[in-house]
Amino acid sequence: MGWNSWNSFANIVNSQIVQQQARTLASNGMKEAGYEYVVIDEGWWLGERDAAGSIVVNPKQWPAIQPGQKDGDMANIAAYIHGLGLKAGIYTDAGRDGCSMYPDSGPKLLNTGSEGHYDQDFLQFSKWGFDYVKVDWCGGAKEGLSGAIQYAQIARAIQNAEKITGRKLYFSICEWGSQNPWFWGPGVGGIESTIWRTGGDIIPPVVESLHDAEHDKRVITSENVLDSFDAGLHAEAQHTGYYNDLDMMVMGMRGMTDALDRTHMGLWAISSAPLMVGSDLTRLSRATVSLLTNKEALAIHNDPYGLQPIKVDEPAHGIQIWAKPMAIAGRRVVAILNRTDASTQVKVNWEKLGLKGAPRSLRNVWNGMDLDTANASVSVPAHDLALIIVDGDDKAPVEYPANQDNITGIQATRGPTFARLQYANTSGHVVVVQVKNTSGFSTALALPPTVGSEGGTIGLILPRGTADLSFEGQQAAIRKLDVYLW
Ligand code: GLA
Repeated sequence: MGWNSWNSFANIVNSQIVQQQARTLASNGMKEAGYEYVVIDEGWWLGERDAAGSIVVNPKQWPAIQPGQKDGDMANIAAYIHGLGLKAGIYTDAGRDGCSMYPDSGPKLLNTGSEGHYDQDFLQFSKWGFDYVKVDWCGGAKEGLSGAIQYAQIARAIQNAEKITGRKLYFSICEWGSQNPWFWGPGVGGIESTIWRTGGDIIPPVVESLHDAEHDKRVITSENVLDSFDAGLHAEAQHTGYYNDLDMMVMGMRGMTDALDRTHMGLWAISSAPLMVGSDLTRLSRATVSLLTNKEALAIHNDPYGLQPIKVDEPAHGIQIWAKPMAIAGRRVVAILNRTDASTQVKVNWEKLGLKGAPRSLRNVWNGMDLDTANASVSVPAHDLALIIVDGDDKAPVEYPANQDNITGIQATRGPTFARLQYANTSGHVVVVQVKNTSGFSTALALPPTVGSEGGTIGLILPRGTADLSFEGQQAAIRKLDVYLW
């Protein structure tokens, strides 16, 4: 959770802008709500290196902020962000060239990527004090590189840097879903947590201070938001610590209505997608900030299993019911998404949520009111979304027994299916195992090390069909698998 400079500032990003946004994040309630990263996207570096190959930045763009600092040192802005109790993020490309100012003003600059300098650059980011790095793919795509290979090398460079500086560097992969990162992203290069972008940019940047014809015509539509959600659904790839990234948020930006803001927040929250807000935080209305900081929506987002929702019903064209399995037994979150131009009244079929009997309680997240379980009908305006927390009792799961290397014939034949896996991993590093189903679909599960006799538990979504799970040849064991057929 945090802020990213690209959507609202593109290549005009500089120290002043980042300081102002960071101060706003720290004082408008977002920091208290959990937004912590302030990420500087493309435009911070123009491709210049010194004789030793170290990155050189423009001293006017990144001047000293405190006495005793030198102009042109990125450690200045990282320290400023840390001084506000926040974490700092930076950006590079996996290839030789970056995206280079695309698609906004400024010359096309070459050599703004990190290829050939992975160890050096990621160590530099860490030494400057950055805690997060987004790695884009413009140069990688131009050279026809393999994402799985480059990003694994980068993951190792990050781990080397972490060993040297002792500072964690969160890894954000941004190759827009071009090489199916949901298949290789979980645990790539042995990394403990990662996000990977699943699609192209939600919008081209809307820079309010640039008054050119190009920026003036940019207006966000519901398609922008819905397309990013649709492209981001790879529920089988996502589990605790490993997330599909639906792209930076555009809450409150030009074209967004209250209904669209709710839809956007609701979809990103129920998907446990990164909440990196790309808006100019100084321009957000109180209503938008209160949505971004809605405690119940954030609790849904921060659920320990961190799963994506499953579409359980489409009672009418464009009216969709999405349900997310939560870590608390018997709890689901349901989003009723109205993609149409007309308001609708929806009676949710609770039977589709895998509960034993009727739900015990229903709560509307946006207004904090309980709904009548006997007669719950929800009204959803055009292009809006209702978010409901459902509590009931789970139907008994199918249990696959424990302490073995393989489980075969796992039945998820009704559709994508929720399961809970208990495991032990004594290897001291992340272990990546595969769930393979009979139609050839395979899912990578990255399992962080567990401590002593304590096991780990993850929630997962099994692909439709009959699947096998193998731990063979790993210093890790299956303790239990519970499969919940909804
Ligand atoms: C790509 C990324 C965006 C942003 C821009 C910067 O388009 O997907 O998120 O980083 O590059 O040029």
